[in-house]
Amino acid sequence: MNAQGRKVLVKVPASTANLGPGFDSLGMALSLYTWIEMKQSDETVFHLHGEGKDELPRDKSNLVYKIAQMVFHEAGVSVPELEIAMYSEIPLTRGLGSSATAIIGALTAANALIGEPLSKDRLFQMATALEGHPDNVGASLFGGIIVAAWDGESAQHVRLEPPPQLETLVAIPAFQLSTEKARHALPSEVSRADAVFNVGRSSLLVAALACGELALIRHAMRDRLHQPYRAALIPGMTEILERAADYGALGAALSGAGPTLIAFVDAAGSEKAELESFLQRTLQKEGIAAETMWLAPCSVGPEIIVVDEAAPGSEGHQPSWQSLMDIVKGEVKA
Ligand code: HSE
Repeated sequence: MNAQGRKVLVKVPASTANLGPGFDSLGMALSLYTWIEMKQSDETVFHLHGEGKDELPRDKSNLVYKIAQMVFHEAGVSVPELEIAMYSEIPLTRGLGSSATAIIGALTAANALIGEPLSKDRLFQMATALEGHPDNVGASLFGGIIVAAWDGESAQHVRLEPPPQLETLVAIPAFQLSTEKARHALPSEVSRADAVFNVGRSSLLVAALACGELALIRHAMRDRLHQPYRAALIPGMTEILERAADYGALGAALSGAGPTLIAFVDAAGSEKAELESFLQRTLQKEGIAAETMWLAPCSVGPEIIVVDEAAPGSEGHQPSWQSLMDIVKGEVKA
C-alpha cells in the first residue's frame, strides 16, 4: 500500500523485565507510555518531546527512522523521507523499557503506514533480534505479562492476563544505568544450585501469576542469576528486595537491568503509603534521590490510529507535531 497521505499515531506501553527470576524471559507492560507519529514527507524531520528529547538524534541515525526503513525494506516498499514526532513519558536508561517502546513504536507505526503487510509475530521476531532479548519488547508489543524464549534465531511467547488486583510501585533513581553496564556485571557461568533455584522460582512465579495466587509471589520473586551481581550498582537495592514484603509488598525486584526497583502490590492493600516511604527512605539513606510512581499493568500492546489525510473531512488539520501534542495532552502522568 502507498503511504502517501496517511499519518499513523501509535501509543506504546513501557515494561518491566525479568520480574525477579525470569532473566531475559519474563516481562510485563506498564501504564506509562511513548507516542510515535509517522508520515511520509519530502524531507526527513523530527519533533521530539518529553523524556530524552535532547539526547536522541534528529537525523537519519535516529533509531525510529532506521527501524522504519527496516520494515519498508522487508515489505519491499520505498518511503525514504519521513516526518516523525515522538513524545515519551518513560525515563531513559532506568529499566522501564524505553528503548523497547521506541523499537515497537517504530515497527508498528511503519507497518501501519504501509497497510500492515508484516504480521505481529514478524514484528516480534524483528524486535527481539534488535533488542537481543524478548522480555521488554514482547511486553510492549503484546501487553499484559509475557513469557518468552529466544534462541538467537526465533522467539516463542505466551501472553498472560495480569491478575486484576495487581498494581506496582516503582522507585526510579535519578541516575541512569545502561543495560550494557548492568549486563557486564554478570558472571558468564553460574552454579547448578543457582540455576535450579531460578528455574523453580521462575516457574512458580509464572504459575502463580497465571492462577492469581498472589500470596506465592513473595516466594517466587527471588533471583540468584542477576540481581545479586547488580546490587553493587544500585545502593539500597538489597535492603529493598529483602524487606519490601514487611511493608506490604507481594514481592519486589530490580526492574529490567535497573536502576528502577519495582514492588508488586495488591491494589486493595492497606499499607501502600508505608511501602512508598520505605522505598524512598532506603534510597535516600544511600544518598539516592528517586521518584516513586504507582503503575498498573497495561493489558494491551500498541494502540494505533491511522489518519488518511486525503480522506474527506480531514482538510485543515494541524501540522503533525501539534496534533500529536493535542492527543497526548491530558493523557500524560506528569
Ligand atoms: N533482561 C534484560 C536484562 C532486560 O536484565 O539485562 C534489560 O534490557
